[in-house]
Amino acid sequence: MSNLFWSGKLTFPMKVLVNLNNILALISGSYNDNKRMKMRVKQGYEGKFTDHVILYDELGYNLQLKSARYQLSGLNLIGMKILDIGSGTGALTQGAFENGAESAVCGDISSFMLHSAKNKDSSSNARRFYCQLDAEALPIKDDTFDATISGMTFGTLPDQKQALKEMARVTKPGGLICIGAHGPEHYWEAIDASFRCINKRYILGYRLEWWPRDEHYIRTLLEEEGITDVYSKRVTWQNDFGNGKAAYDFFAAISASWWYEKFPPNKRMADSNRTRDYFGQKNIHTITDDIVVAYGYKKQS
Ligand SMILES: C[S@@+](CC[C@H](N)C(=O)[O-])C[C@H]1O[C@@H](n2cnc3c(N)ncnc32)[C@H](O)[C@@H]1O
Repeated sequence: MSNLFWSGKLTFPMKVLVNLNNILALISGSYNDNKRMKMRVKQGYEGKFTDHVILYDELGYNLQLKSARYQLSGLNLIGMKILDIGSGTGALTQGAFENGAESAVCGDISSFMLHSAKNKDSSSNARRFYCQLDAEALPIKDDTFDATISGMTFGTLPDQKQALKEMARVTKPGGLICIGAHGPEHYWEAIDASFRCINKRYILGYRLEWWPRDEHYIRTLLEEEGITDVYSKRVTWQNDFGNGKAAYDFFAAISASWWYEKFPPNKRMADSNRTRDYFGQKNIHTITDDIVVAYGYKKQS
């Protein structure tokens, strides 16, 4: 139930609308359809509904790397074998290497994101490995990694408790578990404007909420899993893209537009273009980043 009500920032009418829609999703049964939800996120990040995700790296990688560096700042990963859950195109993995990691497995549900990560030219290429996986059911033995990390992915997981349980299971006793999650204000301007514009007919009854989480929530998630010495922090900043259309392009690429699943294919781009025009007309050129980080250690057995 922790996912039923939108816990992030939105303007007054949009928040009401999203929450009413979530209640409708609960009544209609779609709220509990985790399998389908996971599938549409996967397909979104594989470019099935629109091709926005192709520009993920070009428009978003540097900001993801900024988040990754913030998430891992102060953590010594020297010599560690890392698992990165929801690795995307590898921003957090890159941060882990900068902090001394010896090797990393990039794990992601999307074949497209893994393919993009693999094709990068990086000095750590030989120490990176790739695995297509579902965060909620990892195909990995217990006690395998020195550290299990995840950046800007938790909000896209329908069952965050299960994902954390899996992270803890595959981490060695005493190993590090570190999550960077979407905070309550993350991208709120873009989400708000997109909800205003989107053709409601095709998203009615979808469970729309499962991303923003406050610091207390993420911290408690770790503590309830038995993770010790939990430390948490939060940072927000604003990104100015110069104009509304550029801000929309960033948002569409980074979030992969999976909400277009139920749209008839020939209506997806028309709706996206209309939303893009709205961002331009209203000059929504600033988008907030809000990152909540929590980390701790798996109990020694
Ligand atoms: C917003 S991107 C973040 C990627 C990367 N960590 C970064 O900071 O750029 C979210 C990623 O989570 C992946 N993802 C979503 N659901 C997943 C799941 N159930 N299991 C594994 N990966 C998942 C998506 O495919 C996508 O690559």
